[in-house]
Amino acid sequence: MMRTHTCGELRAAHAGTTVTLCGWVQNRRDHGGLTFVDLRDRHGVTQFVVEPDAPQAARDEAAKVRLEWVVRITGVVRARPTESRNKDRATGEVEIVVTAFEVLNAAEPVPVALAAGERSGEDQELKYRYLVFRRPEMREALLRRARMNHVVRDHMVTRGFTEVETPSLLRSTPEGARDYLVPSRVHPGSFYALLQSPQLLKQLLMIGGMDRYWQIVRCFRDEDLRADRQPEFTQLDVEMSFCDESDVQDVAETLVHRLLKEIAGVDVPRPFPHVTFSDAMERFGSDKPDLRFGLEVRDVSEIVRESPFVVFHDVVAAGGVVRAIAVPAKHAFTRKDLDSLRTVVADRGAKGVAWCRIAEPDWTGPAAKHLSPAMRAALVQATGAETGGTLLFVAGTREIAIPATGDLRLHLGSHFGLRDPKSFAPVWVDQFPLLEWDADGKRWNACHHPFTAPLAEDVALLASDPGKVRARAYDLAMNGLELLGGSIRIHQPEIQASMFRLLGISDEEAQARFGWFVEALRYGAPPHGGFAAGMDRLAAVLAGLTSIRDVIAFPKTAAATDLMTGAPSTVDGKQLAELGIRLV
Ligand code: AMO
Repeated sequence: MMRTHTCGELRAAHAGTTVTLCGWVQNRRDHGGLTFVDLRDRHGVTQFVVEPDAPQAARDEAAKVRLEWVVRITGVVRARPTESRNKDRATGEVEIVVTAFEVLNAAEPVPVALAAGERSGEDQELKYRYLVFRRPEMREALLRRARMNHVVRDHMVTRGFTEVETPSLLRSTPEGARDYLVPSRVHPGSFYALLQSPQLLKQLLMIGGMDRYWQIVRCFRDEDLRADRQPEFTQLDVEMSFCDESDVQDVAETLVHRLLKEIAGVDVPRPFPHVTFSDAMERFGSDKPDLRFGLEVRDVSEIVRESPFVVFHDVVAAGGVVRAIAVPAKHAFTRKDLDSLRTVVADRGAKGVAWCRIAEPDWTGPAAKHLSPAMRAALVQATGAETGGTLLFVAGTREIAIPATGDLRLHLGSHFGLRDPKSFAPVWVDQFPLLEWDADGKRWNACHHPFTAPLAEDVALLASDPGKVRARAYDLAMNGLELLGGSIRIHQPEIQASMFRLLGISDEEAQARFGWFVEALRYGAPPHGGFAAGMDRLAAVLAGLTSIRDVIAFPKTAAATDLMTGAPSTVDGKQLAELGIRLV
């Protein structure tokens, strides 16, 4: 071995031991004849001191080194006097008195800032990603993620799940995003689709009698990217047979509870709360509500229906809604804050945010004069508004006003510092609608995916009122992020066939696209269900980070490019010719 210890290992108890460490020079200071060198590896940082009586060769080498050079140093551990111990460092009790110093490799000045808390430009950081790993936060993100995978593996194996690997090169799977296509050289003009999720494969595993399956799997989706979306991302994928919603949720919930405890160090009370999809939309304006804070939304349409305020009156008369958030007195707004709320809701198409202050002796603000005493009393009753507080209103169609108040609520949460990154609020969202109407395409789409079962009591509605059918689908959200989603699946071939028809997929098309799967349902499919969790999102949320890029070793930019390797790139004509592809 080139070293006896790592740079994070030595303590006062090692005093007197001769040790050899390897690592990167993090810092070098000359101090009245002494040279101090901080040596770093992924385990920590250790301080070395080159004293005037050190061998000449060691002193010469130590004088030469620059930041990020790779060195191997031998010396004797010395306990530091109590007053000069470095309490911020695990190895702060000791320093190593150098006896030999060897340069293993020189380094050019590195193009990114490496000290804890420092950042370079985002592009630079992505281009030199490997250097960013030398920074403590990034290193910790990767280590934490590895520990997380370890807990996941232990949990799934302990609970009797079998790990099965599935292919990435497949036919298109129906997760609803665009596929990444891979041309076939052997079959010119034909393409594989990179797996969007192993949904159908895991269902086939259940039909095959595997009973309980899990896998940590890379998925690929060509969709618009955001802070919580990457073109390739990692799922914990799970499926089980002979189960209902609560069985599946128990597997997921106990895992997330364990991860919170073992990775984030918090013991979140179980069982996690449940909210139905429709309640989540009504109360929080979101299907992934952030429950770290209150500020719930209330529908006040009926209360303000007869208000002379055209914004309220006309919207309600036209079938729209007025939604309100009561902000407590302790959260004060400046006039400028209130004016800027308009931009928060503009993205959703809302025209603005009306407001009034519940002041004494009389309410103030633009909306106040349009509210009769009876309306005011009813608003206080409905929203819990308090004296000194502020009432905010958004009016519009349901499609606009619900998400707009959801965004407004999150904005207020951030503005008033209520979204503590160190607290965790998991919540199950159940009973999603099975279908959503696509007004442009004039057709029904599956909300989750076409293999999700309808609630038994709603099956009759499939023919009469499909929009009202609820699905046996559930998501687990935490801190405003959708962490995982799943459902109980359709296992009867005839219900699957009627589902395809409802989605406007003809029997012929279903046969052509999913015939291989539909046929399998006829050979004795057990009742089954499962979920998939976004591992990147889990890693981010457990660390209190908002972007999944910060927990991915080699992420892509928002434009789906890899700045380090330059992917995607052009390829040479010969490669294209082999694939039978001509660029137009
Ligand atoms: P779904 O499409 O909801 O379900 O995906 C499951 C979870 O994967 C994560 N996720 C993503 N993470 C990062 N980048 C993305 N582009 C991305 N897309 C999804 C989310 C999400 O909750 N087969 C079904 C699951 C099932 O029914 O069992 C599926 O893939 O955290």
